[in-house]
Amino acid sequence: IKRITTETLRLMKFENRKIAMLTAYDFTIAQMVDKGGIDAILVGDSASNVMAGHETTLPITLDQMIYHAQSVVRGVERALVVVDLPFGSYQSDPQKALDSAVRIMKESGAHAIKLEGGSEVKKSISKIVNAGIPVMGHLGLTPQSIYQFGTYKVRAKEEEEAQKLIEDAKLLEKLGCFAIVLEKIPAKLAAKVTAAVSIPTIGIGAGSEVDGQILVVHDMLGMTHEFHPRFLRQYLSLHSQITGAVAKYVEDVKTLDFPSKKEQY
Ligand code: KIV
Ligand code: NA
Repeated sequence: IKRITTETLRLMKFENRKIAMLTAYDFTIAQMVDKGGIDAILVGDSASNVMAGHETTLPITLDQMIYHAQSVVRGVERALVVVDLPFGSYQSDPQKALDSAVRIMKESGAHAIKLEGGSEVKKSISKIVNAGIPVMGHLGLTPQSIYQFGTYKVRAKEEEEAQKLIEDAKLLEKLGCFAIVLEKIPAKLAAKVTAAVSIPTIGIGAGSEVDGQILVVHDMLGMTHEFHPRFLRQYLSLHSQITGAVAKYVEDVKTLDFPSKKEQY
């Protein structure tokens, strides 16, 4: 199997072929996502919400991200594996940012890291890129800043924030980022950004005029409960299917239906 690289993604933008991305946090799901033909997998800090049950992405640690990344890497043969730098592991100082990125690369075997923000984190991005580690940017709704934003509403609807976002995207390209996630911004703005940079843009709630799409895998499989933002297309309803399967199992055990004669030694 031919592996997807950051260069493959660059070429896909150039050739106008869309990039399909999903998150994964563990071996079993990563295997299925890879087999399904995904181009790139993000070990997102959304693991903080989806896997650990926290309300925000802030609490997850670098050690926990590395554990998730190791599990995903073991399940993947083809897709590019990108890992989020968690909150607090890169914002404060570029050397710390590089140390965090190096730990992820060395200890997990992943292929790239992602971090949130534009000009505020430019020194950290430069330092990591200069060490030879591919960096994916992330602009728009950046969940690690939720306490500054106050809500998970659409970002950059106003001209000033939109202008800064375009400038930040150009800066990320200049700093050497290989791609940029655009989260929850107006489709028109995402299209503008996509035209303004030569690196791929990957949208989530950013419309169709971007170079690729990403969703949280538990959301698109319907494993998460009562989360129905407009941008989410749900392909399965695993929450109710799994709950139903468990209920049936409980019934079978209690009624002595399970195990049957055939299901024992
Ligand atoms: O952590 C995550 O899942 C993400 C994607 C939604 C882009 O950052
Ligand atoms: Na993230």
